[in-house]
Order: sequence, then C-alpha cells, then structure tokens
Amino acid sequence: MLVGVALVFLSNSWVHAFCSSGCGSILRAPESSMGRRHAARTRVEVGGGFGFARDSFKYTGTQRPSRLSPPRQIPDNIMKPDYAEDGTPKARQLGMPWDIPVNSPEDIEGVRAASRAAREVLDIAGAAVKPGMTTDEIDALVHEETIKRGCYPSPLNYNGFPKSVCTSINEVICHGIPCTNTRLKEGDIINIDVTCYLNGYHGDCSETFCVGEVDDAGKKLVKVTYDAWQAAIKICKPGVPYSQIGGVIDDIVTKEGFTSTRNFCGHGVGKIFHSNPTVLHYKNKQNNGVMAPGHIFTIEPMINEGGVQNMMWKDNWTATTRDGKRSAQFEHTLLITKDGVEALTAKTENSPRYWWEL
Ligand SMILES: *[C@@H]1O[C@H](CO)[C@@H](O)[C@H](O)[C@H]1NC(C)=O
Repeated sequence: MLVGVALVFLSNSWVHAFCSSGCGSILRAPESSMGRRHAARTRVEVGGGFGFARDSFKYTGTQRPSRLSPPRQIPDNIMKPDYAEDGTPKARQLGMPWDIPVNSPEDIEGVRAASRAAREVLDIAGAAVKPGMTTDEIDALVHEETIKRGCYPSPLNYNGFPKSVCTSINEVICHGIPCTNTRLKEGDIINIDVTCYLNGYHGDCSETFCVGEVDDAGKKLVKVTYDAWQAAIKICKPGVPYSQIGGVIDDIVTKEGFTSTRNFCGHGVGKIFHSNPTVLHYKNKQNNGVMAPGHIFTIEPMINEGGVQNMMWKDNWTATTRDGKRSAQFEHTLLITKDGVEALTAKTENSPRYWWEL
C-alpha cells in the first residue's frame, strides 16, 4: 500500500528538503535508497508489513532471501564516496526537479572513465553467468574486478546496501541482494546492475542476461525491454523534455502486453550517485526539465511480463512484481552532446552480444 512507500519516503531527509521547497506533495519525485523510487499511483505492498516481528510474508515468485557472505573489504588506496563508512550520502542535490546539473568537460571525462570501468565489469559479470552460480559469486567477481580498476563499487553501503552489485532474478524488479545460496537456474533471467566510482565520479549500467536456454516468452520480454530502451535513447538530444522518454517506452511495451514499472526511475549521475533529472519510464507530463549539452543521466526501464504492481521484501531493498511474473531491465549512463546523445557505458568491441546483435 502507499502507506508503506510514504514511510520509506518520510525517513528520507532529502524528501523533507525537497518538499519544504514547495513541491506540495510528499509523493512527488522522491529519491530512493538506491535508484530513485518514484511514487506513482500504483499499489505497493511491503512484505510482512513494517514493524511486525512475525514474517507473514507471501513471496510472489520463486526467489527467496538468503544468507549474506561476510562484508568485502576495500583497499586503502581506493577513493571512497562520502557514504562508504556510515552508509549516508552527504552530497545531495537540492532544488527543483527541472534544475539539472551541467557537467564541465572535466566532469564529463570523469564520468566517462567511471562508465568505461562499469562497462568492463558488467561484461565480465555477464559472461560468467551460468546455471549453478550463486549471486554471491557474481558479487565477489564484480567486487574484485571493480577494485582491480581502481574503483569503489558504488552500491556498497549506499544507504546501507550490503553488497557491491544488485542481482535481480526473474520476478525481482531491481535491487536484489547477492547472497550465498541463491543459485542461478537454467532458464532464469538476471539483471546485473554495476556502478563504479572512480576519482570522484560514478558510472552506472545494467543488463539482463539469460541463464542457459530461456523460454520464448522470457526472450521476448528481454528483447522488447531492450528495444524500448533503445528507442527512448534515440529521441535524446538538446531541447527534448525528459518527460518524453516515458511515453516512448510505454507505447512500445504496452503493445506487447507488458507494463513499465512506475515506482523506480532513472536519474542524474556524476559526482553524486543519484541526482536530477528524474527519468520516468512511463507516460507522464511531469516537469522534470529539458535536455541540454552536459547533462548526464540514466535511462533504465524495468519492464514486467505481467501487471505493474510491485512489492518490497522486508529487507527494504528487494522489489518484486506483485504477480510473481518476470521483469527485465537495461541501463546506460548517457551524455547529452551538442546535437544528440552518447552512451558513456556503450558496449566495446569485446562486449558479449545478445542473439539479436549477432
Ligand atoms: C525496513 O524499514 C522499516 C521502516 O523504516 C524499519 O522499521 C525496518 O527495521 C527496516 N528493515 C530492515 C531489515 O532494515
């Protein structure tokens, strides 16, 4: 229920700051713990309910919470973001939703380098995906490859997130927590969401990978998600309102009988992990600003095979579909250039390819 969402939002000081500046509604464009969580008019249920000791939670699909491995360490020579020690991000963007930071050439090169590292790490994680692998093994690999590149894994301790990557299988929409006895099974789909922090800048990308042979419906979900995401990227250039992105995605996925998640959105990224703009992935008329050269943000639609309703596990991270059907996602960090858009997390020559890219 929406109350659950409001509780999460009320605990977020950014929301207070934002709302005292006059947005008039607690439910407008709040920042989430990991991505940005947007309170649209959809039902959200929180597993077990807040504050109940007994876990009466009804899981909707095949995924279950599991055990965490011991915390992973970061070498002293790696530059850490301001939340690495206590979990609380200090640098925050205040201001109205249409106030969007313009990155200097130096900032752009910073995000570009972090984005390239994130791409390399994501490719390595994706290539490793196979039946029998645990999500904790994916976390270990991402952690190791991230620090090998001189980066800090941005998710680690961001608002207390316990691991270095998000691993979201099947009905998990986003923010799945890697654990030691969740094993990939033949036919699963898994989104791996990698963010690297390098020299003071974040670069953020994700893809949905198939574990062995996936059924035709699952493959269609992954392909349509990719197509909708690509179509949205194609419209990006200076002068285009951010609100147009969602309409492009919604039109494509609705035709296929799919739905676009409303409670999580794309975001600005750079020196701060999550900033303006708020990028909604569904049809909307929100004034979230207009694209201009130097803007850097993500587009990361989460497309559901079934209904749009989602729910949250008691860990306050794992978001799943309400009907237990699958959800797929792709994400790039994007730069608005003088006359168009550049994917800073674009694939390289060595990146693994999907069946439709071969
Ligand atoms: C989830 O959030 C609720 C409400 O803020 C809190 O009471 C609860 O302890 C949290 N659970 C976990 C596992 O952090």
